[in-house]
Amino acid sequence: MNSDVIEISGDGFRYSAFVGRGLIAKAGEIARNVTDRKHCTIIADQNSARFFSDRVCEAFASRNFSPQAITIPAGEKSKSLMQAGELCDEMIKAGFDRSSFVIGLGGGVIGDISGFVAAIFQRGIPHIQIPTTLLAMVDSSIGGKTGVNLEAGKNLVGVIHHPAVIICDVDALETLPPQELRQGYAEIIKHAIIRDADMFDDLLSSQVPIHRSGDALVELIRRNIAIKARIVAVDDREMSGERALLNFGHTVGHGIERATDFKIPHGDCVSIGMVAACAISIQRAGFSAKQRGQVVALLKKFSLPTQLPAGVDREKIIEAIAHDKKFLGGKIRFVVTPKIGDAHVSSDVTMDDIQAAIAAL
Ligand SMILES: NC(=O)c1ccc[n+]([C@@H]2O[C@H](COP(=O)([O-])OP(=O)(O)OC[C@H]3O[C@@H](n4cnc5c(N)ncnc54)[C@H](O)[C@@H]3O)[C@@H](O)[C@H]2O)c1
Ligand SMILES: [Zn+2]
Repeated sequence: MNSDVIEISGDGFRYSAFVGRGLIAKAGEIARNVTDRKHCTIIADQNSARFFSDRVCEAFASRNFSPQAITIPAGEKSKSLMQAGELCDEMIKAGFDRSSFVIGLGGGVIGDISGFVAAIFQRGIPHIQIPTTLLAMVDSSIGGKTGVNLEAGKNLVGVIHHPAVIICDVDALETLPPQELRQGYAEIIKHAIIRDADMFDDLLSSQVPIHRSGDALVELIRRNIAIKARIVAVDDREMSGERALLNFGHTVGHGIERATDFKIPHGDCVSIGMVAACAISIQRAGFSAKQRGQVVALLKKFSLPTQLPAGVDREKIIEAIAHDKKFLGGKIRFVVTPKIGDAHVSSDVTMDDIQAAIAAL
């Protein structure tokens, strides 16, 4: 099989992520190595279903699984308790029980809600992730965070439910629109800043757009899964602070998302948030202005925004941040980088620092 396998393991969980080309056709074979169950539901959204449901069904049927596809509307609105309930109802009607399992086929929205449904259906059944966006391959499919949104905010209800296996068919990204590809690159650049200076340099110096070369993209995705895997291995429940490093750029990024009613995509907000985090790191962690310039250059190279669009109310961003869950006991826990490839959580960052960084965006 033309693929790499990354082990993801920690306290009470162990599974593999397969990364390669043409893996959808092999998905049944890969799944057979982790389960002897038969009945499975493939949860997809309209887009991932249109492109891949039939092929995934075939791949599973060919290995003596009995798959049944359920399609939900595309978009963040589908990540709701109502939708999760409807999926459970449909699964009961279709005859699924405790011996069944769930396959999530799609981006992060599908990964999160299908994982949540798997976690709660009959008190929990296995979940297989088949991510089809770059963001889902390098970020959301790894680490077991599942859940849905409430009116009051995103991801407020959820369960840690690690998948049985993750299958990343990089060929699936061929149909992904450029603005969605970019959202994944924001998290990749985040990984480079917090953990992998070599990857940062590789991305900065690469001549060919990386997504034009399938093999280079396989290697890049593999490298990013390994970074996230190493972090969740020691802290899947965000207890020790290690997993919090993945929030680099996210404090300000989430503030921008909320201040603009989620009209700007997540990766774009995180991109602008990373520019702010770099400015704060200069003040509080000894980060150099030169490396800040390199971060901005790399974000621009991947068509990611590095400044706030005109008309965004900076006060609203500050207000949103003030309500952020990362303020523990009144203290701001802000992820800073002293140099590219390294990051830590700092309690020295003040609201004034954040305000100044946002004013400069
Ligand atoms: N669980 C976690 O740890 C974690 C981490 C980061 C983000 N998330 C969540 O992930 C979600 C965002 O994920 P996303 O960026 O993948 O968004 P998404 O799932 O909404 O997918 C983006 C768009 O691409 C379409 N699409 C998916 N695959 C495609 C393909 N191969 N070709 C063409 N179109 C395709 C989708 O239908 C959708 O319209 C958010 O809800 C976020 O909260 C979760
Ligand atoms: Zn993110």
